[in-house]
Amino acid sequence: MSFFRFAFYLVLLFPFSCLSSFEAIYLTLPSDPAHEMAIHWLETPKEQVSILSYEIDGRWQEVEASSEPFSSMLLKKVLLSGLQPDTSYRFRIGEDLFFFRTLPKERSRPVKIALGGDAYQKTRLYEKMNRTVASYSPDFVILGGDIAYASPGALWRRWVAFFKKWGEQMVAEDGRMIPLVGVIGNHDVSFSNPVFFEQLFPYLQKGTYGSLHLLGDVSFFLLDTEHVAPVEGVQAKWLEEELKQSSSSYKFPVYHVAAYPSVDSMNGKVPSLVRGAWVPLFELYGVRAVFEHHNHAFKKTYPILEGKIDPKGITYIGDGSWGVSTRRTRDVWYLQDRGAVNAFSLMTISSVGVGVEMINNEGIVLSTWKSPS
Ligand SMILES: [Fe+2]
Repeated sequence: MSFFRFAFYLVLLFPFSCLSSFEAIYLTLPSDPAHEMAIHWLETPKEQVSILSYEIDGRWQEVEASSEPFSSMLLKKVLLSGLQPDTSYRFRIGEDLFFFRTLPKERSRPVKIALGGDAYQKTRLYEKMNRTVASYSPDFVILGGDIAYASPGALWRRWVAFFKKWGEQMVAEDGRMIPLVGVIGNHDVSFSNPVFFEQLFPYLQKGTYGSLHLLGDVSFFLLDTEHVAPVEGVQAKWLEEELKQSSSSYKFPVYHVAAYPSVDSMNGKVPSLVRGAWVPLFELYGVRAVFEHHNHAFKKTYPILEGKIDPKGITYIGDGSWGVSTRRTRDVWYLQDRGAVNAFSLMTISSVGVGVEMINNEGIVLSTWKSPS
């Protein structure tokens, strides 16, 4: 192998090996992921790298990043728009070269999304799951709350450490950066203050909740289970309007505290509120699978409709065990598959529908779900 070829692979496979301009970098998805990409990085005030250049139609263009304080660091943000769907783009910050790929506009190729929650509690488990998830090269990841375990308190350094590792590990087989979409959880909040969450993930329309529409007919509803916004009232009204207006064939709510928990009691305050205010809306507006977390275990429920097992019902998948110590699950009527296992869900959206595999951190498939045809 020639030196130049070796150097090329080195840059491609280890794009973070020579981080010099900043502490951590990540991508997150804005509202139109076929035409936009958000690039954020964290740096110390003395670093001050404000220019990002990216290659479009063979020409390099420069963009100036916005800058805001992030505790004693700076958070830099660039929102690239006017991009082509399903296209790779290279970009440079200082000496470091990266690339990402936009999503297709339609279900023209299989799109893979990894879903999980409760991530950076135990460093070893977080890193192990990152390695496993990255090996599937998902198009992006949704983390359903308790992302960096930055509270109680406002442990901003945990966000920096979380993103540092994320940037190093969450790279697809071809070197592409894997974007992250965040959903709020109890450990992302301190005294009802969403410590840094809204700064780090600013594209949810309502601050701590919102929707993400992709591929023409797939929608995710990223909700706040009483961490900042109450389940009932304004958020429930917004959810009803969103679901009612949505023409998507596939609608997937994602939130932190489970309505049908695998470890906690279903009679707890938040599970009861979610079943009272949101589940009837899910059932009315054609939701068939929901992603829940917070329990530090793996679960798939039977399909449930109006509080009973029913093949026409909704399957609740979870249960928040990306990188945490797992907890013993309970033997309850609604759980079809369960276990004290570190697991995530790999969703594949293709022209024939949506499939989900629930996979442990060794890469073993524990269970599956398929969208009804
Ligand atoms: Fe939690």
